[in-house]
Amino acid sequence: MSQYIMKGGIPLVGEVEIGGAKNAALGILAAGLMTDEDVLIENLPDVRDTNVMLDALAEIGASVERIDRHTVRLNGSSIRQISVDDEFIRKIRASYYFLGALLGKYKSAQVPLPGGCNIGSRPIDLHIKGFRALGADVKIENGIVYAHAIDLVGSHIYLDQVSVGATINIMMAAVMADGETIIENPAKEPHVVDVANFLNSMGANIKGTGTDVIRIRGVRHLHGTEYSIIPDQIEAGTYMCAAAVTRGDVTVENVIPKHLEAISSKLAELGCEVREFDEAVRVVGRSRQFHTNIKTLPYPGFPTDMQPQITVTLALAEGTSIVTESIFENRFRYVDELARMGGNIRVEGNSAIITGVKKFLGAEVSAPDLRAGAALVLAGLAADGYTTVDEIGYIQRGYEAFDEKLRHLGACIELVDDEREAQKFRLRVV
Ligand code: UD1
Repeated sequence: MSQYIMKGGIPLVGEVEIGGAKNAALGILAAGLMTDEDVLIENLPDVRDTNVMLDALAEIGASVERIDRHTVRLNGSSIRQISVDDEFIRKIRASYYFLGALLGKYKSAQVPLPGGCNIGSRPIDLHIKGFRALGADVKIENGIVYAHAIDLVGSHIYLDQVSVGATINIMMAAVMADGETIIENPAKEPHVVDVANFLNSMGANIKGTGTDVIRIRGVRHLHGTEYSIIPDQIEAGTYMCAAAVTRGDVTVENVIPKHLEAISSKLAELGCEVREFDEAVRVVGRSRQFHTNIKTLPYPGFPTDMQPQITVTLALAEGTSIVTESIFENRFRYVDELARMGGNIRVEGNSAIITGVKKFLGAEVSAPDLRAGAALVLAGLAADGYTTVDEIGYIQRGYEAFDEKLRHLGACIELVDDEREAQKFRLRVV
């Protein structure tokens, strides 16, 4: 069973190159099937979720040509089926993007209800509300979503709750609908804007992403394109927290600093030195860091996908902090694991009350989901002694070469496949 093993206590120092945004990539890969012409996608992260998405695309008949580790050429002209196999869907939640993409292109889609991270109930009622508003008939039978339309017609859609997935899915379903679609209260996340930019580069007419109203004028067809995915805000934020929690000095490179502002400003509040450059952000941790309060919110608020990493950072800061999770209901499951390392956190409803401790002690912990898994690795890197993190399949869903990049920053971490290798690591690193 693979796990990360590490010996903590070393401040991370150096530069780390951030890859393409996983969550943008997942939308873009699905949207790529909406034309019959070639689509070249660059800066694609080589992570488990995007690779599963590529397998699913190949499975329904799209041609998928990997040009190099971060570049892929897709062609959707050979797609044979509008139903996606359950095997892929169970592995990634974002497989729901097949619904919007297939419905938008073929006016018909058949996709099992998605799996993905275990962070609370994650309904797709808003996606379905949007498809129905565009004229699709949508039903769920035996865990499969069937969406079908004779014609898709532009509509005025108000999202009761800000949803990244629903916004992207409705955009895809609406780009080739007749007439104009207006989405009110859409998600404004950078990856929503990136998927819209990608669709526009294929000839779509989407305006207003990143604002409170998106307007989509339907076009007859989409054409081929070449597109480079934006940098991953959450991967960058994770390394920024790694700098803070290990009291290191890390520059995240190839980023859009504006997308990181919520994270940068909180780290500055903790007492870290944060400097922004054109395409990089440097975070210098301080020996004394202080408490603060944080509430996760849709962009431009503090991202829920950074909540575990900042909580771990606050758990080693002076004073009492409160982190409130307002997006997902079950996102503090890692707190029990952190307690095994000496973290002092009490969860009350959707808030974590964090009393800073002086140090963590290495322990054997298990990743409950993707971001919490990464946060536990950060905790291990800051802890005294050895830490092992199990269930790292979750972490590999969203972080490319996580251990390699951390080693490049000076971390003493290795991916091991069994206890013998773990023992070897302990003997080597005393
Ligand atoms: C996406 C991201 C995920 C991130 C989340 C919030 C991808 C692949 N995943 O997930 O990493 O944590 O945004 O930034 O991009 N909701 C409903 N009904 C719906 C849809 C959502 O009630 O039909 C609720 C959800 O339960 C949640 C909130 O809306 O409470 C936000 O969810 P949403 O933005 O849709 O998250 P995802 O798109 O699933």
